[in-house]
Amino acid sequence: MGRSKDSPKVDRKRLPRHIGIIMDGNGRWAKLRGFSRARGHRAGSQAVRTVVKACRSIGVQNLTLFAFSAQNWGRPREEVQALMELLAEFIAKEWQEIMDRDIRVINLGELRRVPPDVRTRLKSMIVATRKNRSMTLALALSYGAREEIVRAARNLGRRMRAGKLSPKDLDVNVFSNALYTSDLPDPDLIIRTGGEMRISNFLLWQSAYAELYFSTKLFPDFSRQDLLLAIADYQRRRRRFGLTDEQIRKKDRRGK
Ligand code: IPE
Ligand code: IPE
Ligand code: MG
Repeated sequence: MGRSKDSPKVDRKRLPRHIGIIMDGNGRWAKLRGFSRARGHRAGSQAVRTVVKACRSIGVQNLTLFAFSAQNWGRPREEVQALMELLAEFIAKEWQEIMDRDIRVINLGELRRVPPDVRTRLKSMIVATRKNRSMTLALALSYGAREEIVRAARNLGRRMRAGKLSPKDLDVNVFSNALYTSDLPDPDLIIRTGGEMRISNFLLWQSAYAELYFSTKLFPDFSRQDLLLAIADYQRRRRRFGLTDEQIRKKDRRGK
C-alpha cells in the first residue's frame, strides 16, 4: 500500500543517518474515540511496528523512538502500568521479527526505575541483538535529555576526580561520548507527531543541528507514507551548519 506510485519521492542515497521520533498523541487519539488512554497507547504500539518496519525497509540506519520520558513517571499509576505492560508485550511479540530483520536494540534512559520484569526482558533483548547490523533501534525509555546531560557531567566529574581525565581535555567530543548515544550519529531528522511544536526534553544535546519536522497526525495514525513525507521534506532542506551557502556548495562539489 505504502509503496503505491503516489509515494513521496525519497532519495535513498541521501537518507537521514539517524531519525528520532517523539511519538505523541496516543491520549488524544483515544479521547477522540471515547477509549481509555491505555487503548490509545496500544494503538500507538502498532504504529511503532509500522515505523520500525518502514525505516528498516527504506534503509535508515538509526532510529530513536521516544517511548517514555523521565517526566512521564508522573502520570496516573494505571497509565504508567499500562505503558510498562505494553512495552513487555512489544518485546515478547517483536523479538523474532527484530532478530530476523537484523535490528540491534539499545536503550537510552534510566532503566533502574523500570519494573524489574520489563527491565530484564529489555536487557535480554539488548544482549541478544547486539551483533545485529542492519539497523539500530534506540528506545528512549525513562529518558530525559537534561537528566542525561547531568548524568554525563557527573560521570566526567568522577573521572576527573580519579585523575583519569584532565579538565583541559574536556571537549565536545569527550562530552558526546559520555552520553547514552555515544555510539550513534547525531539525529539528522527529528519528527514529532501530535501537532505540538516542542522538544519535551528529547535529545537536547544531540539535536543541535537536527532538522525538525512536525506532523499533525496523532501517533497511532502515523503511517509509512507519513514517514516518507517527512524524509522527503528533510531532503529538500539546505543544511548549512553555520557556514555560508557558497561554502556548502563547494563542499558538496568536492564530495562528488
Ligand atoms: C504518547 O502520547 C506519548 C507517551 C508519553 C507515551 P501521549 O500519551 O502524550 O498522548 P497525548 O499527548 O496525551 O495525546
Ligand atoms: C513527549 O510527549 C514524550 C514522549 C513522546 C514519550 P509528552 O506528551 O510527554 O510531552 P508534553 O507533556 O506534551 O510536553
Ligand atoms: Mg503527549
